[in-house]
Formats: sequence, C-alpha cells, structure tokens
Amino acid sequence: MLRHLIEPGDFSKEDYEILFGLADRIVENPEKFGNVCNGKLLASLFFEPSTRTRLSFESAMYRLGGNVVGFADAKVSSTAKGESLTDTLRTVENYCDIAAMRHPKEGAALLCSKKMTKMPIINAGDGGHQHPTQTLTDLMTIRHYKGKFENLTIGLCGDLMFGRTIHSLMRQMARYDGVNFVFISPEELKMPRQFKDEIDSSRYTETDDLKTAIKDLDILYMSRVQRERFVSEEEYLRLKDFFILDNDKMKNAREDMIVLHPLPRVNEIATEVDSDKRAVYFEQAKFGMYIRMALIMFLLGLEA
Ligand code: CP
Repeated sequence: MLRHLIEPGDFSKEDYEILFGLADRIVENPEKFGNVCNGKLLASLFFEPSTRTRLSFESAMYRLGGNVVGFADAKVSSTAKGESLTDTLRTVENYCDIAAMRHPKEGAALLCSKKMTKMPIINAGDGGHQHPTQTLTDLMTIRHYKGKFENLTIGLCGDLMFGRTIHSLMRQMARYDGVNFVFISPEELKMPRQFKDEIDSSRYTETDDLKTAIKDLDILYMSRVQRERFVSEEEYLRLKDFFILDNDKMKNAREDMIVLHPLPRVNEIATEVDSDKRAVYFEQAKFGMYIRMALIMFLLGLEA
C-alpha cells in the first residue's frame, strides 16, 4: 500500500515505535544498512531553503546505498516557468522511488500526494503548517534523553503562530498520556486557536515569561522567530529578540531538563548555553539523519 508522511497523525503510535526501533538498529550498526537502498532514487525537492532537512535526507539516502536527484532552489525547476506543482511531482514519479519535498505553501505536499500512484511523498515542511520529519527527530531525541513520551511537561517557546515544527510536535506529543504544554510566546505569536482546540484546555497554559516558566519544564523547545513568515519587517524586528535563553535563565531550570531547538537558531539561544549539558540541539540534528534513514526504508518497505 502506498503511504505518505504529510503530518504526524499519518502514522500510528505503533508505526512510530517501528521507526524508532529501526533507527536504533541503524545507529548501532550502520554498515549493515549500507546497501539497503541500492538502485533506489530519492527526489530531493526543496522549493524553500534548508540545511538540516535536505542534507540529512540526502545523507540518509546515500548512507543506505541509494542515490539522490533534485534541486535546492525553486528557481531552477520548471515551476519557475509556470508549471504546476502537481505536474512537477507527476513527472518526478516517473524517475524516482520516493520524494522529500519542502514548499512555502501550506498543503503543498498533501496536494501532490493525492496525485501519486506509486511514489511516497514525505512532507519536509509546508509553510507554517507541518514538519513531520522534524517531529520524528524531536521524538527520537526525547526518547533518548527521557526514555519515555508520557507524563512530560513541554515548554514550546518562540514563534508559536507560524512555527511548523512547533505545530507538528504539539500534535504528536498530545497523543501521549500525561503530556502537558506551556505555550511561551509574545501575544502576537500565540499558538493558533485551531491547534489549541485539538487538546483539552487543562493540558496547557500560556505565558510570555520564560524565566518563570522554565522552572517547571522537563523539556524546553525553543524556536526561531521566522523573518520569512512576516508581512511587516517592522513587526519582525520588534519581536525577533523577545526571548533569549541564556545562562541566567538556565539557572532556574531543573538539572534534568533538556533544551531542544529544530535549528537554525538566530539569537534566541545565547551561544554560552551550548556548553550546558542540558543543551542537546546539535545531538538532535544528528538523530535527524538516522530517523530519516529509517523512514525511507519504512516507506519503501525495505529491510536490512
Ligand atoms: N530544522 C530544520 O528544518 O532545519 P532546516 O530549515 O535547515 O532544514
């Protein structure tokens, strides 16, 4: 059966466990998986800038023994000549076995997935909507450091309005019992009502006070205020440094709290925090490649 990953709910909790188990096996013995994707081709279709997602997908495919074609800039694809996105993807389906696709428009990956007959599509980020493979990365990190998903208090901090990594993580973590959220944002970048309505109001609180909120957290998930999502440059400049996590604020956090960030960071985490053992965001980026290796194998129905 043809499956896609467009948003976290496309996979069951059991699917997630299969993926984490597979990723663990890859981390333990990567050589064993070095030829699993021999003869397979990944289409890496990035209509929006990326470092981690694109390079981790491409590294993942190469490390599985497959190959990659694609582009990292919308201007070099024929969409620049006016071709529709769905026509582009229907064409790519003739050449490739699986596609990872990032696009600035919400719903782009879903739209294309409905036209596919044999090629799985992975949403590598659609506008301010969803970023499910970042969520897989986040969950693998949480599982590594916390050993569980249940009964955790997660602070989501920064741009909760447009932050697709935030939306995807919230949606997935809400599926686990005893998970509560602290939404930490300026008034202008609050979590949209549509996402809050998905969970019981007893499961979240909202604040703009990071220094106080940090005391009660198991996980602090920082996010960037995204210049590219703002209509007004003035508004962006006013909000961009609203939160800066520094060593002073970290003093208020528990010893076993962890700090995650999907990256890229701009100013929202001072570099002095990087040497704190609770700052695990670069480890998080490393997990991203292994879980994407597992995802490619899973969607292609391959085993080592
Ligand atoms: N976390 C993330 O999506 O980073 P990139 O934009 O660099 O891919």
